[in-house]
Amino acid sequence: MLNCGEVLNRKYEIVKHLGNGGMGTVYLCKDINSGEFYAIKEMKEDNEFEIDAVSEVNILNRLKHSGIPRVTDTFSTDGNLYMVEDYIDGWTLKEYLTDKGMVENEEACHIILELCDIIGYLHSFNPPIIYRDLKPTNIMITKDEKVLLIDFGTTKEYKYNKNSDTVVIGTTGYAAPEQYGFGQSCIQTDIYGMGAIMYFLFTTKEVSRTSELFKDDNYTRVNLELQRIIKKCLEFDIADRYKTVDELRKDINSYLRDSAFEKTSILFSSKDNYNKSTNKPRLSKNILGFLVLSIAALFVVYSLFTNNTKAEDKNNVSKPSKDSSIDTLPKPEDSQPIKEDNVINNSDQTKVDDSNFNKENNNKEIYKKQNKNKGKNKNKH
Ligand SMILES: Nc1ncnc2c1ncn2[C@@H]1O[C@H](COP(=O)(O)OP(=O)(O)OP(=O)(O)O)[C@@H](O)[C@H]1O
Ligand SMILES: [Mg+2]
Repeated sequence: MLNCGEVLNRKYEIVKHLGNGGMGTVYLCKDINSGEFYAIKEMKEDNEFEIDAVSEVNILNRLKHSGIPRVTDTFSTDGNLYMVEDYIDGWTLKEYLTDKGMVENEEACHIILELCDIIGYLHSFNPPIIYRDLKPTNIMITKDEKVLLIDFGTTKEYKYNKNSDTVVIGTTGYAAPEQYGFGQSCIQTDIYGMGAIMYFLFTTKEVSRTSELFKDDNYTRVNLELQRIIKKCLEFDIADRYKTVDELRKDINSYLRDSAFEKTSILFSSKDNYNKSTNKPRLSKNILGFLVLSIAALFVVYSLFTNNTKAEDKNNVSKPSKDSSIDTLPKPEDSQPIKEDNVINNSDQTKVDDSNFNKENNNKEIYKKQNKNKGKNKNKH
């Protein structure tokens, strides 16, 4: 392993060790001329995996995508090949998830959609370029949440008219069945890898054994539609998986649309409920207030009216008026409450008022006339 401060190829000063992998060691280096930072991957030219180290350089040199680091330089010393590439200031997906604990479904879907974009770009070549090693340590996320794919050591061009891969390659747990020698890796091999990455994102469980991907218990916290999408990626038979990354992308997008719609509906219905719950007490408060006011108003009117009549009574006692009505008269003991149709006509009243009878006589007279009138009125109806 190289030490910090060592200078490679008289140009790149080692700043720190970034990571180790099956294919080599990666360092953060500083270009002593420009001051720019790079990631330098050191690979044994003669490795136990029978993988041509130069093939990663060759593949990366053909690619131009914002989600794939550029190779800017290569050199060899002491049986090692050094590949200089863009330094990604961020975390591997494994570190990102370990740090966060878990991510919201929407964020996980956006990571998958960015990966679909990169993988779709590789598959768009003719023949398609198959990545073959999708796993959390080969995916990086920057501070501004951009997703990048690194490590193209196992990437290869699809070979037409071949039944199986020459080299059995991939990572246990994330590798598709055909990578174990059941067939040649193809576009659907990467679809399977996407399924394994989705499993990792939505369950937050590392896939150390393939069997874990098929245990229903591991999916209890995963949305049903997302489960369906993941399981379709992970089908054993290539023909049962998504045909293209585009098909997968469409399903994820429609899941996102549906869940956004559901959230909006929930938001609206809770807003409705909120209005209902706040309107109800407000309405009943208004009704209550109105009733109290009405009762108060009635009470005021009633008291004014009774005060007036008392005042009129007083007036009547002291100064009998020509216009005094029967209502103001004291009722005889056997009399009925006086109703409208019992009111005597003005001419009779005038007669009574004109006489000099004492009040008692006067009342008897009026009552007699009143009953006479009552009889007349009843007959009218
Ligand atoms: N361009 C880069 N910028 C920042 N860090 C990087 C970069 N490339 C690689 N790394 C870091 O180095 C680690 C190993 O890199 P890489 O995956 O390319 O090596 P590898 O030997 O092929 O690994 P493996 O075989 O285990 O997949 C990565 O997981 C990452 O942490
Ligand atoms: Mg790697």
